[in-house]
Amino acid sequence: MPNHFNPFNPGAGRDPPYLAGREEEIDRFSLVLRDLGTGRAENVLIHGPRGTGKTVLLHKLVQLCMDEDFLPVARFQYNEKHSKPKTFFTTLQHDVDKVIETFSKMEKAKKKIQTFADYIKPTNVGILGAVSYEPSYALNTNTSLEDQIVEYLMQKWNLIQKKGYKGVVFLLDEFHMVRDTKQNDWHVLADFIGAINDVQSRGCMYSFILCGLPILPINIKIARSYSERMFTSFNITNLNHDSSRMAITEPLKKTDWRFSDELVDSIIRDTGGYPYFIQFFCREIINRMDKSDVGLGDYERIKDMIKDNLSRDFFDRRIETLSDGQIKALQVMASMPEKKVTFTSIQKSSDITKGPLSNHLRRLEEKGLIYRAKRGIYQFPIPLFQEYLLRKNHI
Ligand SMILES: Nc1ncnc2c1ncn2[C@@H]1O[C@H](COP(=O)(O)OP(=O)(O)OP(=O)(O)O)[C@@H](O)[C@H]1O
Ligand SMILES: [Mg+2]
Repeated sequence: MPNHFNPFNPGAGRDPPYLAGREEEIDRFSLVLRDLGTGRAENVLIHGPRGTGKTVLLHKLVQLCMDEDFLPVARFQYNEKHSKPKTFFTTLQHDVDKVIETFSKMEKAKKKIQTFADYIKPTNVGILGAVSYEPSYALNTNTSLEDQIVEYLMQKWNLIQKKGYKGVVFLLDEFHMVRDTKQNDWHVLADFIGAINDVQSRGCMYSFILCGLPILPINIKIARSYSERMFTSFNITNLNHDSSRMAITEPLKKTDWRFSDELVDSIIRDTGGYPYFIQFFCREIINRMDKSDVGLGDYERIKDMIKDNLSRDFFDRRIETLSDGQIKALQVMASMPEKKVTFTSIQKSSDITKGPLSNHLRRLEEKGLIYRAKRGIYQFPIPLFQEYLLRKNHI
């Protein structure tokens, strides 16, 4: 058995051994940085289905910010609590203050945070919100959240400029979790977008990179209709054939393992170019092989076992957290032959009434298990999920 390490790395936010097919986004982001450095602040929405590689792309963009001497304020864990104005504001303040503090300390020590790994190491994890903290800031209830964010960011910009930074880039992941909630009269998203617009028009060099599921651009548009003109969109999808090939073959070059061309093509077909599955299948193939030259026949012999593992490790875990109604809606969708199914057809084929069904579908969309291609039209974003549901339904 070849004694070389297995380079593939499936998992949420786990950097792949080779980041394939994101050259265009990286080039476009470099232009955003270039413009920020010359006095024009732009914003980006990074959106795409679960597991397509948004977070690992964001890691790369943090690294680019550091390479180019921009201050990155990154948070990878926005959640529903951040729809509450106080939590949102204290988190934002905490993250900005923490980054300024960390980078200042490093400067004093005449050291530079050079790599993304340095940036996220335990002493700095506060930057990413990976540790709990006690926010000490107060939200002034007499002033709107928008005004308070503007005031705070303006004040910080003076300080940041004095420290010699060309600009600040906010990279905020899972941002689809931040929503305006009418029932509480909370308008965090609308206020935040309003504040971005305001601070940028006052000449602060802040760029905002908001990242999340496909529902993110919809949330943003609903919050502020003019927001469409404020953001460039990076639509993160599955990798095309050539990029999928690179994602598989590039990491192997540093190892003893070799996959035949037919095998690579077959993996691409079976995974649909879905980045998480590429990592998963390749890791499994290597773990199960006792020779370094692997061909299509070797793979075919273990393919069903790989799919069983995938069902257990990936799909079962997602299904476990769903309500009966949500599972029913998924099963009905899976049983339909069309790729895109309408709300009406799901309703007709299930015995779920309109209100509850629309709640189930919204929750499923938030979890990234279904995707709303257009109003009232749904599809599965994750390859093999429909096949999995049909198999489950059968058992
Ligand atoms: N461009 C890529 N090339 C190769 N592998 C990739 C690429 N992008 C992502 N991956 C792999 O896919 C997996 C999922 O990536 P990531 O967690 O960034 O997805 P995500 O879009 O952020 O998912 P989620 O919406 O669930 O947060 C990881 O194992 C990662 O290594
Ligand atoms: Mg992610």
